[in-house]
Amino acid sequence: DVIEDKDCKELLKKLPKEIYDILDKAGDVGDRLNEKVYVVGGFVRDLFLNVENWDIDLVVEGDGIAFAIELNKELKGNTKLYKEFGTGMLELENGKTIDIVTARREYYEYPAALPKVEKSTIWSDLFRRDFTINCMAIQLNKDNQGKLIDYFGGFTDLKNKRIRVLYNLSFIEDPTRIFRAIRFLARYNFSLDEETKSFMEQALGENMLSKLSNDRIKEELVYILKEKSLSESLRLMQDLRILSSINNNLNISNEIIDKINSIKSYQDQFKDIFKDINIVLVKVMILLSEVEAEAINGLLDLFCVNKEIRSKIYNGLISKSKVYELLVEEDLDKYCLYQSLHTLSREAILFYYIDSDNAYIRHYLMFYTLNLQNKNISITGEDLKQLNIKPGPIYKDILDYVLEAKIKGLVYSYEDELALAKKHYKALKGEKNV
Ligand code: CTP
Repeated sequence: DVIEDKDCKELLKKLPKEIYDILDKAGDVGDRLNEKVYVVGGFVRDLFLNVENWDIDLVVEGDGIAFAIELNKELKGNTKLYKEFGTGMLELENGKTIDIVTARREYYEYPAALPKVEKSTIWSDLFRRDFTINCMAIQLNKDNQGKLIDYFGGFTDLKNKRIRVLYNLSFIEDPTRIFRAIRFLARYNFSLDEETKSFMEQALGENMLSKLSNDRIKEELVYILKEKSLSESLRLMQDLRILSSINNNLNISNEIIDKINSIKSYQDQFKDIFKDINIVLVKVMILLSEVEAEAINGLLDLFCVNKEIRSKIYNGLISKSKVYELLVEEDLDKYCLYQSLHTLSREAILFYYIDSDNAYIRHYLMFYTLNLQNKNISITGEDLKQLNIKPGPIYKDILDYVLEAKIKGLVYSYEDELALAKKHYKALKGEKNV
């Protein structure tokens, strides 16, 4: 489980040219300033996983600010410098950013007569990070281009698909790492190292999650739900009761885990039908599907970023039992089916399909999706105006009537619709005159 520096250099060279050029120039600038420079963290992790990552984080042993200014001369972006912190950011023309930090010299006092020891500065930068797989650096200076710095066994952990912290207090010092671990499990389908799990349990036992703000928790949970394979991470959250410790109405059952895991196969099966929907909403609906109606609103605070998403999820959950009641009927009228579903989001429809194992319900949901959801009439209020009908609530009555006839297959063309509108208008007028 080792990688030679020359192989690492090859991997860098195989990166998309735009990315490689940036790293190459960073190496040149480092050489000119006589400073060591490294690309670190998530970028290195994803390089080894062969995942494209545009978040370039550079660490400079020396003066990060001067380095940022020099590198920007080459890349011609904009700089944002935070002199006090020795950090800087370059914003490139293509919208991407490069973060630059200064690795500080740190001195470690040894007892008695031993002198102060200066730790390698990149070591201290890497040691304050979260997981071994995120703690690797690759040097960029010409003579050492591709030299891997891996003090904590990150490469081996990556090969063994393992998330491991560097030291026992890591989760206590930074409880967001609890969620970050779960996110990486979900993203790469890795597992949690046993000892790391016990450190996590210890931090949870000391109620460290209560130190995080609701906004922070919300952000982290949404990050997790955006990831693809949630099975390991949901099991861990279930096992350590992470969600229920945040809100005791939130229990993850095995059924919920199975349903969330099955989303992918439904998405594949219905590729074209559900292609542009927001899968995170479907996941949240499944997660909250066993929660009592009164508790839903409070829980939505934990998952929703905006009002629109919130109301899609809320309506999907709240309407579920009514929809299921109706959709088990035999010979359900098409218009009735349309009416019961057309105010709901497509995410809710997919959620019902996954949630329910009733054949009638599934049949109707699919029929609606394939045949009814996009049904529309061609005539508009403008046409009614042309017929000299005075604008008012009657417009809605007429257009709804035509839509109903269209859904039932009684009218097809624009002309049919117009004729029916006229006829219905007359009938309504007649009714009123009586
Ligand atoms: N980091 C950390 N502790 C945190 C947040 C971040 O140690 N609570 C470190 C990790 O080493 C991480 C780096 O900071 O690699 C950058 O953080 P971020 O950009 O959030 O994470 P990435 O690992 O790049 O993950 P992603 O691909 O999701 O951006």
